[in-house]
Amino acid sequence: MSSSELSTKHILGIKYLTKEDINLIFETADNFKEVINRPIKKVPSLRDVTVANLFFENSTRTRISFELAEKRLSADVVNFSASSSSVKKGETLLDTVNNILSMKVDMVVMRHPAPGAHAFLARHIDANIINAGDGTHEHPTQALLDAFSIREQLGDLSGKKIAIFGDILHSRVAMSNIFCLQKLGAKVRVCGPPTLIPKHIPQLGVEVSYDVKDTLEWCDVANILRIQLERQDIKYIPTLREYSKYYGIDKKLLDSLDSEVIIMHPGPINRGVEISSDVADSKQSIILQQVENGVAVRMAVLFLLAAKRST
Ligand code: CP
Repeated sequence: MSSSELSTKHILGIKYLTKEDINLIFETADNFKEVINRPIKKVPSLRDVTVANLFFENSTRTRISFELAEKRLSADVVNFSASSSSVKKGETLLDTVNNILSMKVDMVVMRHPAPGAHAFLARHIDANIINAGDGTHEHPTQALLDAFSIREQLGDLSGKKIAIFGDILHSRVAMSNIFCLQKLGAKVRVCGPPTLIPKHIPQLGVEVSYDVKDTLEWCDVANILRIQLERQDIKYIPTLREYSKYYGIDKKLLDSLDSEVIIMHPGPINRGVEISSDVADSKQSIILQQVENGVAVRMAVLFLLAAKRST
């Protein structure tokens, strides 16, 4: 049984959400998924709300998904991209955001390379803040849409076995997924080269394996992550070719398993590195369903935070 409102006015990370918050977001997203499959996909829920999407890092899925979610809720939307802004002239994050908020903005969706940038802003501004990714820290709405997509396939996540493959060390998606899946009672294992698995990870109650086939045999769902070369200042793997040989997931490997595993990937995909095209495009893959669900889940998050503004 979930409550009728979120316990928080910001979505800074899954760490700060309760299991009841997550279930409320899922139940609300179920309703919005029905809405976005209607011929008229728009509802007036956020008609008097203005949302600013502030992206200080590149994005395709998250930025478009939030913008669509906001527009389908009838919010007024402004988009900001750091590469074409006065940040390039030396303006601080707080000055930038305060200037935007002085134009009567109610909610801020932000992606920023600095872990904790959102928590810093939450201490200084009144608007609701949604973390769309902060460095290697968290990407909460990605984890929510991932768990929502698993729930759609397998029902209750309690006791389900979810494996996260790849570059766990640099992945905010991995961190948010671990927190979210554990709150929902799933068992989580990470699998990748030892250099890309953080040393502290067993302390989170997560299993560690360096054996891809054994982990695929163990899990119900394989969430495959890319190697984040842009966050690596030293060499963690000899070459992408070698990574692909030992840790890449291809159809031959999947076909050798005793049971069928659900394949997920948050994107962007590096085809032929962590995942082969015949796996990414297979009937086991729910990668595009994840993207579709992202809009409904983000509509739910925006709607529930807007409801907190009037309480
Ligand atoms: N999954 C994800 O965050 O993708 P983008 O970087 O394209 O937003």
